Amino acid sequence: MKVTLSVIKADVGSVGGHNIPSQKLLQTLENHLKNKGQRLLIDYKVTHTGDDGCFLMSHKHGVDNPDIHRLCWDAFTKATKVAKDQGLYGAGQDILKDAFSGNVRGMGPGSCEMEFEERTSEPFVLFACDKTDPGAFNYPLFRGFADPFHNAGLLLAPDMAKGFEFTIMDVNYTEGDRVIVLNVPENYYDLAVLLRDPEHYVIEKVVARSTGEIASVVSTSRLHNIAGKYTGKDDPVALVRTQKQFPSTGEILSPFATAHFVVGDNRGSHIVSLMPVKQGGIISFFDGPAIVTALGICMHNGIFTEGVDLFDQPFWDVIRTKSAEKTIAIRDQGFFGAAMAPMEELEYTGVVERIKLLDKKFFIRKK
Ligand code: F6R
Ligand code: MG
Ligand code: MG
Repeated sequence: MKVTLSVIKADVGSVGGHNIPSQKLLQTLENHLKNKGQRLLIDYKVTHTGDDGCFLMSHKHGVDNPDIHRLCWDAFTKATKVAKDQGLYGAGQDILKDAFSGNVRGMGPGSCEMEFEERTSEPFVLFACDKTDPGAFNYPLFRGFADPFHNAGLLLAPDMAKGFEFTIMDVNYTEGDRVIVLNVPENYYDLAVLLRDPEHYVIEKVVARSTGEIASVVSTSRLHNIAGKYTGKDDPVALVRTQKQFPSTGEILSPFATAHFVVGDNRGSHIVSLMPVKQGGIISFFDGPAIVTALGICMHNGIFTEGVDLFDQPFWDVIRTKSAEKTIAIRDQGFFGAAMAPMEELEYTGVVERIKLLDKKFFIRKK
């Protein structure tokens, strides 16, 4: 059976600052899908990571379906009203446009979707980040799909011996979708030079070369590119199908043990270690740290099992400590050098405006 998995997420208000949606807001999201999604959806789950609410949906309508997108847009609009009534902070933050125009892409909410022929058992992982941008997935997906140090299946499993095809998007290009398709292992170094620059080149999709089946999708929207100014960080989501012709669930989780450095954290303008946290993880220290959750699910005829919280296991406690230590180490130098994001990534204009003023006061010393 052909099924579409759609993930659509947005921050429309939170408690205590940019920390966590209120229970009432989440209930509003849940109720909307329950009542209005009956005809459209086979199944759904509502999750939250930091201050972002997230819909995971299965259906038969393909990607970019206007009815599915409208369903979520209306849910987030309704939740914005609740956020305003409750006085939540940042009410409607990711609702950048007044009128819905058929697809949430470019309107504020993040989304990733894939349509495929369901396997007898269809295990997959929903990853969701807060306080960082879509480039945060470059490192773990590159290593999880292309590096035998993490994906032992590339060496051991004949199903994966042909490697994977990566579609990379140039997220700085705003006139349309500027993409490149590269195959691993042949184009490994080409892929590496692009992915090392995660604020510019972002993995959008991964396909298994053995079968041509879609393996993974990532939300690629950059809010500051849409709005032309700071409107919050993009807080990406990703779906990864696992097992058999795809990396095992453990292989795709493995690179997250690096707790790699990403751009984000406080004011979206710092370098921080991405901490793998349990479902519903909140935001705290320095409006961070940047976090990622992982929900493992099996699907059959489009129906989801309960989810398994993949970062709720003692191993990840050690990684959380390591991640906190990495973050503290870089936080120690505040805004100096590598601790703050590069100029073009600064989500607030203060530094840039101050430098413009100071620039006028510079003078060339007479000899
Ligand atoms: C980062 C984030 C927060 C805010 C910070 C200031 O993505 O959401 O770090 O940037 O709390 O928020 P405002 O400007 O809303 O006071
Ligand atoms: Mg927020
Ligand atoms: Mg957020």
